[in-house]
Amino acid sequence: MKYILYFFLSALFFVSCKTTPKEITEPYRPVRGLITQEAMVVSAREEASKIGTAILKNGGNAFDAMVATEMALAVSYPFAGSLGGGGFMVYRKTNGETGALDFREKAPLAASKDMYLDENGDPIPEKSQLGALAIGVPGTVAGVFAVHEKFGTLPIDEILTPVVDLAKRGFAITEKQKKRFDNYKDLFFEVNQDTILFAKEYKVGDTIKNLKLAETLKRIILNGKAEFYEGETGKKLVQRIQEHGGIITLEDLSKYEAQWRDPIRFKYRDLSIISMSPPSSGGVCLAQIMKMIEPYDISKYGHNQLKTIQVITEAERRAYADRSFYLGDPDFTEIPIDSLISKTYLSNRMADFSFDSATASSEINCGSITGHESDETTHYSIVDQFGNAISVTITLNGAYGSKLYVPEVGTFLNNEMDDFSAKPGVPNMFGLIGAQANAIAPEKRMLSSMTPTLVEKDGKLWMSVGTPGGSTIITSVLQTILNVKDFGMTMQDAVNAPRFHHQWLPDVVVFEPNSFDNELLDNLRAKGYNINEEQSRIIGKVDGILVLPDGALEGGADKRGDDMAVGF
Ligand code: GLY
Repeated sequence: MKYILYFFLSALFFVSCKTTPKEITEPYRPVRGLITQEAMVVSAREEASKIGTAILKNGGNAFDAMVATEMALAVSYPFAGSLGGGGFMVYRKTNGETGALDFREKAPLAASKDMYLDENGDPIPEKSQLGALAIGVPGTVAGVFAVHEKFGTLPIDEILTPVVDLAKRGFAITEKQKKRFDNYKDLFFEVNQDTILFAKEYKVGDTIKNLKLAETLKRIILNGKAEFYEGETGKKLVQRIQEHGGIITLEDLSKYEAQWRDPIRFKYRDLSIISMSPPSSGGVCLAQIMKMIEPYDISKYGHNQLKTIQVITEAERRAYADRSFYLGDPDFTEIPIDSLISKTYLSNRMADFSFDSATASSEINCGSITGHESDETTHYSIVDQFGNAISVTITLNGAYGSKLYVPEVGTFLNNEMDDFSAKPGVPNMFGLIGAQANAIAPEKRMLSSMTPTLVEKDGKLWMSVGTPGGSTIITSVLQTILNVKDFGMTMQDAVNAPRFHHQWLPDVVVFEPNSFDNELLDNLRAKGYNINEEQSRIIGKVDGILVLPDGALEGGADKRGDDMAVGF
């Protein structure tokens, strides 16, 4: 019924506005993702989804499966999964209790505000993006042990032994992976001054075994978190980093702790949204955008229609302006979260919006320092047979992070230092603007856009969702939730649907190529919107799980990647 109404209203809108998006001139034919009755894992790799699901099948809960999935991604998805990165998890237990874990990287003790500037005070991007100086103190291993200690039910060796076996057995290279290995081969050589496991000549279907990573994982099983932060593994990491000009010490590693945080909670129509709090900007920005959209009946305007795109774009513009000024590590910066997401503040924020024309970003006031996130992140969602749910987004920042590989440990290390603002007032390569709140300081966490999110409806779990995509993470999660809630899509259709993105500066709406009708884009141009369709990359690679009305689970694994839902 909902789909019929959707089509009918959209068709009416089509007649009145003369816009012709291909997708709604035909009846909506829903495509469902994998449906299972009890439990599911959706991640960027089949191997990781399978290992997480096997843990659930063996009686483990979502938190046990998190540990296994996270480590299996470190083996099979080195693009973004690694022992050398960090991330965020939002959880909702079966009893309704919610919380969040921050295992974001930190600046080393020897870091300083101007460490990436040249003698003229200008940023040197390569220094914060490539090689050992770009590395933040990794949080992943501390994160999985914090989760296991608080909520795990199976012994760590039972959880990690299948991952050791995967590393020994190897994983088959997909077409997308081969392309990425080829693209980064020269940089691997440049940074490591030698060949590495992932720089060899591979064909699609070849198997990569990571025996060094298998050994590292075995030591971690035996010695726990201390193996990575104080033991043999930590010493090997520090030696490699310092040999290549980095500043991370054993003291940095031994001081690292994951932090339990209160997630951001807010209402959108009849949904309760639970998302990541600072040092990620994800939850605050998502709350701001959704609350600015809420007064508008976008389901009536239609999916990806002129007025819908206008409202979403204008809300995004205003939220990203606030992001750049107010957000940073809450342990270092006072953040007025309650005010930023209050109804009064946000309705004032939209007061100057009109459907007649675009608001210029130059008219939206805000701070002026840089910071950016790249899109080489990854996300996984898990719902277990007991009713617990988690949403986890992790990253090395750039593809394969700093590109510095530690052959003895079998892992890449992140380049997360580049998520700090290197210098006030200078737009970065992605054009995102930051502020003093995100300036570099020893032991500070850099601002993120990661938006692992859980959604409740009628007091029950409704969705687990998240995505990679750098600054487009927030807007991709947003559109996926709206696609199901306001446009009546299935989970699979919601993650596959074409997306667009605006981030205040640069003042451009980015559209996924060849996915939006030309006449629609012309109508937006006529209203003063700057459009970028030609040079846009894909926007997000969303994975999610939807709880259907009968309690079954539907997986949404984004067609843009090798992502896969597995469950029972
Ligand atoms: N490095 C990507 C992010 O944290 O948003």
